[in-house]
Amino acid sequence: MDFRHQVASPESLAGLACDALVLVVAGESVDPSLDGPLGAALNDAIAHGDLTLKAGKSIYLHRPAGVRAPRVVFAVAGATTAKAFKSALRAALGHLKKLGAKHVAAGWAGASELSDAHAEAAVIAAREATYVYRHTKPSAPAASAIAKLTVVCVKADAKAVQQGLARGQAIAAGVALARECANRPANHCTPSYLADQAKKLAKEHTLKVEVLDRKACEKLGMGSFLAVSQGSEEPPRFIIVRYEGAPKSQAPIVLVGKGITFDTGGISLKPGGEMDEMKFDMGGAASVLGTLRAVAELKPRLNLVGVIPACENMPDGRAVKPGDVVKSMSGQTIEILNTDAEGRLILCDALTYAERFKPSVVVDIATLTGACVVALGHHHSGLFTADDAVAAQMHAASLAGLDPCWRMPLDEEYDEGLKSNFADMANIGSRAGGAITAAMFLRRFTKGKYPWAHLDIAGTAWKSGADKGSTGRPVPLLTHFVLGHQG
Ligand code: BES
Ligand code: MN
Ligand code: ZN
Repeated sequence: MDFRHQVASPESLAGLACDALVLVVAGESVDPSLDGPLGAALNDAIAHGDLTLKAGKSIYLHRPAGVRAPRVVFAVAGATTAKAFKSALRAALGHLKKLGAKHVAAGWAGASELSDAHAEAAVIAAREATYVYRHTKPSAPAASAIAKLTVVCVKADAKAVQQGLARGQAIAAGVALARECANRPANHCTPSYLADQAKKLAKEHTLKVEVLDRKACEKLGMGSFLAVSQGSEEPPRFIIVRYEGAPKSQAPIVLVGKGITFDTGGISLKPGGEMDEMKFDMGGAASVLGTLRAVAELKPRLNLVGVIPACENMPDGRAVKPGDVVKSMSGQTIEILNTDAEGRLILCDALTYAERFKPSVVVDIATLTGACVVALGHHHSGLFTADDAVAAQMHAASLAGLDPCWRMPLDEEYDEGLKSNFADMANIGSRAGGAITAAMFLRRFTKGKYPWAHLDIAGTAWKSGADKGSTGRPVPLLTHFVLGHQG
């Protein structure tokens, strides 16, 4: 898809050449600067009760008089924010997706400011609306004919819009990569496939990549990661990808992504219903690759490392059993009371591995707990960190990327439940506050080592039901978080 910007005043919009013109109405009244045929058409629609100026409302007009574009959509945002602009665009694209329009031009129905954030949101909305999963369904029809989006703005906003378009395209490409990986079934997207994707990404964007096999992980003492993988015929892969945009002396940001390519639960087998969705249990890993993709395109002056422990969690004669005790790379022993709490078992060794980079901050991203879905639903990812500065950066990034997260508690008291009579800790606590005990488990491997945050994306990485599929979240949040660290 092609993205441009074009400078045009509100009065000149009626003469704009495109297949469809989307005009977003900001406030609760028609902006007087939108005079001429477009203003007349909008006022007429309102006067006849066909459109009310409430957020979410929209109207499609075919060949309105005096307008060059054959199709016009007015979409009401209700506010001037990038978030409102994106929602309105989504509604407009809902109309246009089914039609023949190839070139869509979009802007404000008036004189509101179009910032870089609005332009970025427009690109992401358009890419979201037109994505189709095809790899194992080549017959899937195209989502729409839309091939080009022009963001229309006034001259004063042009530079910001251009920057927003570039950032939006990089993030959208990262989101698309994450969605594509996560949507692939587990018989395609194996640990080795993730490693190959990382290698391909590294080759295309001059990143450094290293892939450790089982033997190399054994040498490093990753007893916890390997315990999860031992019930599977698929060999585990421990993937490291590095982006170097600053001198080596500069401490990197490290992103650690859970890469369970299928989670059966292991011997603590999951119930059958919706188990297919456990192919998405590598959503954290996919988001790390997607973020590296976005960052590699934007080339900020900083260093970034992606670390992905990847394996399957399967029941088998060799599989780890409830009550087994394993030794993590940190030296701490873990009693595996539930083999379905496997995410934390692979992440803890990756978090210990991350120490070698002397990172400025480490963020792990994982589809970690069903409890997080119960707590926050499908809108906010769960954010866990003891570091207020990192929490503030994450929150700001989630607002900027329109990719929300919500901070959860991480008080010492929650650590209680992880006590074991047979090891330094158990891998599960009580059911209550399950997302927090999972985070407390991870905290034991990061505390005193480096600033750390954990994102539980169990509720946000994919959608169930008719729209089943990966969302590519939290690539926008992570990209903004990383970009915020530019020196
Ligand atoms: N991958 C799952 C978490 C999950 C479950 C994400 C459902 C999205 C939807 C994770 O490995 C898991 O099984 N967690 C257990 C932990 C429990 C055994 C302490 C869970 O949440 O039930
Ligand atoms: Mn599990
Ligand atoms: Zn899992």
